Amino acid sequence: MLVSGKELFQAAKQGGYAVGAFNVNNMEIIQAIIEAAEEENSPVFLQASQGGIKYAGLEYIAALAKTAAEQAKVPVALNLDHGTSFAQVAKCIRAGFSAVMIDGSQLSFEDNIAITQKVVDMAAPCGVSVEAELGKIGGTEDDISVAEAVFTDPDEAAEFVERTKIDALAVAIGTAHGVYKGEPKLDFARLEQIRNATNIPLVLHGASGVPEEAIRKAVPLGICKINIDTELRQAFTKAVQEVVHTKPQEFDPRKLLGPAREAMKEVVKAKLRLFGCAGRA
Ligand code: 13P
Repeated sequence: MLVSGKELFQAAKQGGYAVGAFNVNNMEIIQAIIEAAEEENSPVFLQASQGGIKYAGLEYIAALAKTAAEQAKVPVALNLDHGTSFAQVAKCIRAGFSAVMIDGSQLSFEDNIAITQKVVDMAAPCGVSVEAELGKIGGTEDDISVAEAVFTDPDEAAEFVERTKIDALAVAIGTAHGVYKGEPKLDFARLEQIRNATNIPLVLHGASGVPEEAIRKAVPLGICKINIDTELRQAFTKAVQEVVHTKPQEFDPRKLLGPAREAMKEVVKAKLRLFGCAGRA
């Protein structure tokens, strides 16, 4: 069933686990994630970035995700990932998204607060959850690169949460979007300080390639949602490449995308178990 992000965030915080949030661009990806969540009896976030929306079209991606969520036996929230404008958030809420992220991390502290407040004022009466970002998460997503990561300051986080009344905060503690060059080092002490200063659900972006022990350590320190995109893309594309190489004469798209959907599903299932949300639906 389609539920508000608020429901998933609150249950995760109470239960001490993190809900998996996976980026979607087409039907097979949505099906892979929903089938994995159902098999693991897990709540899940489907999320579309602005790049994903541009690729698929807002009405298409919303209709696909809503159909999948409504038919699912587990609770599913549909989230806008890294929305950068009030207009984008409004369009997504109108299209039926049940969760949004407003990413004002490239703005000044005061401007980030201002745009986030405006989004909360609109989304909260609609029952739509709002995630915001403070500090800057590094790496590349949808061709947008953040060269210099800026870690989240716990005192600023406390003020930001108090003034904006957001449902969840994305933190910059050493993860980055995309493929890591070395092993990422997470600042757990900072994460704990942010958790103590804000007492709201925290979100870990850039979790592809983060070692399992680091994930297991971060969840009890307040992480309630974990974003994965890159590892899913890699599994999907590897499966397509395998078919292309082993059966170069194959021309049925279903014979390429079907195995890719299966490969992606296995990655999602493993993540749901790792994050602790498996069995929590
Ligand atoms: P990855 O690129 O590490 O999968 O991160 C995805 C993400 O954080 C989406 O917001």
